[in-house]
Amino acid sequence: MAIISPSILASDYMNFERDLTAAKQAGAKWLHIDIMDGIFVPNITFGPGVVKGMRRVSDLTLDVHLMIDRPIRYVQHFCDAGADYLTIHVEADTRENTRAALEKIRSLGVKPGIVVKPKTPAEDIAEFLPLVDMVLVMTVEPGFGGQKFMADMMPKVNQLRKMLDEVNPACHLEVDGGVDAVTCALCKENGADVLVAGSAFFGAADRAEMVKIIEA
Ligand code: DX5
Ligand code: ZN
Repeated sequence: MAIISPSILASDYMNFERDLTAAKQAGAKWLHIDIMDGIFVPNITFGPGVVKGMRRVSDLTLDVHLMIDRPIRYVQHFCDAGADYLTIHVEADTRENTRAALEKIRSLGVKPGIVVKPKTPAEDIAEFLPLVDMVLVMTVEPGFGGQKFMADMMPKVNQLRKMLDEVNPACHLEVDGGVDAVTCALCKENGADVLVAGSAFFGAADRAEMVKIIEA
């Protein structure tokens, strides 16, 4: 059984509390929060204060995706803000700092995750797989919602599931970008068990039905 993680990037920013409540009422258990700094990606979103506010009004599992340069500078802030999972990009810093950031996240009682952009091969995160509770494979170039799903990422998802089965079988494997009622099937077939859905969830006429389809 898969888990949907609705991305608040596609929600109404003047009505976060309403939309978080709607996600819960639709049956979602997780919430995906995209943090962008305008440097690692060409877009800017929210800071730790917004995560803290969401923590205050929601008991959903907060799945925080950091798309920021040198995330080690900010992991403490996002852990303190109430993230349950905190996921950092392998491309965002040196390998030493990436390892240190993942260890720091865990030491603060939060579940660490590692993300790869579409052009980054699975092998680039092999050394981090034993250290994380989530691996995230981007199925669009990070930065914006509503982009087309890259089906050519599926071999990488499959490869990472196999690599995880060897060294860390309990680790979640998440996909992010262009996931909808159709593309979710491919992701699940290839071993993903957490599926981010922004536009497909918040734009759905029947969100409870979308949760059922994506989690089936
Ligand atoms: C993109 C973000 C995604 C985004 C997905 O950089 O990481 O989480 O919200 O949006 P959709 O589901 O609309 O592709
Ligand atoms: Zn994301």
